[in-house]
Amino acid sequence: MNPYVKRFSLFFVLAATVVFVIVVFIQYYVQGLIVQDQLKAFKCLIERSAHFVSTGYFQWTLMKEAIERNDTDFIASQFEEMMSLDPFIADVTVEDVPPNFEGLYIVESDGERLWARFKIFTDLMEEHAVDKTAKVVWDLDSILEAISADFRFDKEGKPTHFGLRYRYSFHRTWFIRGTLSAFAVLVLILVLHNFLVSNILKVHWETEGLERLVRIVGSVDHYTAQHSQRVSKIAELMGKKMGLRSRDVEALRVAGTLHDIGKIAIPPHILNKPGRLDKEEYETMKRHPLVAAEILKGFPELSEVLPVVLYHHERQDGSGYPFGLKDGEIPLLARILAVADVFEALTSDRPYRKALSVEEALDLMRKLPLDQRIVSVLAEHIGELEKIRRVSSEGWTT
Ligand SMILES: [Fe+2]
Repeated sequence: MNPYVKRFSLFFVLAATVVFVIVVFIQYYVQGLIVQDQLKAFKCLIERSAHFVSTGYFQWTLMKEAIERNDTDFIASQFEEMMSLDPFIADVTVEDVPPNFEGLYIVESDGERLWARFKIFTDLMEEHAVDKTAKVVWDLDSILEAISADFRFDKEGKPTHFGLRYRYSFHRTWFIRGTLSAFAVLVLILVLHNFLVSNILKVHWETEGLERLVRIVGSVDHYTAQHSQRVSKIAELMGKKMGLRSRDVEALRVAGTLHDIGKIAIPPHILNKPGRLDKEEYETMKRHPLVAAEILKGFPELSEVLPVVLYHHERQDGSGYPFGLKDGEIPLLARILAVADVFEALTSDRPYRKALSVEEALDLMRKLPLDQRIVSVLAEHIGELEKIRRVSSEGWTT
């Protein structure tokens, strides 16, 4: 695992947990608000029903008289009508109980059922029956279903409403939705986290590790430091022209700067030898990509750069080093870097030869075991390469 991801994983786990708890809490809170609204709707429904019964049937002289003379047919027909007009009424009866309450009616419950008792008035409410009340019982299940309630009246419930205990009964779909939304937030956090980590890595690439390594090379081998800067610019431009993703272009840019870092382990008399190297010296020189890979291993944030540096001396026909890889075995970025490296070396002055012109260099490169598609791309964009090249005795600008 990338050390920066590792370093931030604890932070991420903590942040994710906090976000998850907050999201779940919000869901619970919102669900609580919904339940409160549903309780209000329930109360309105009961009060509307009681008002309808009181004004429609028990403020009516005909009904009062029918109840007093016990006209069961009339009473039954009116109660039947009442129940057909209000489907939430489960039962209506007349009881021989004096109306010992204030107001037109009183809502009561025994903890399981809900009913109201009504005074039985004359039309103008001048008087009411003194020893009788009407009792209307509501069908709680129908009402709860009608308002899609998230609560149920239950003897085990704690809060009370109209004297009935109730408790939340969270819907499964709500829980699934809530949990999914919480996970969606977590994924968002993960994406943001990765974005932040990549930025930290980018900054790190461009600063600490890179600068430290380049300083070491520059102090030991001035030519290699300058050459590397130029190769970096060429490789970066090639990556862009070939339409590579920005991450690969960045890897090319950094690899260009660091590709010869392994020369730090090559004795200066070999590095700066004006003539051709003998066999033993050449074998020593061939170690520099391996040394570079060893150094870069210590910088996990440069893990994508390492193979580009390690294979930049491999050649298409297997004649390269250190492994003698061929064609597609060589990573694309390493093949690009090889082209940039050779082009820069050929067009620069060396102690043992003068710089070739761009055309001469390209002619020679067309005969070398480099990836010729990449050489063609280089040739196509040579005009743009010229733009970043300052024609002077110093060669490529850095
Ligand atoms: Fe090299």
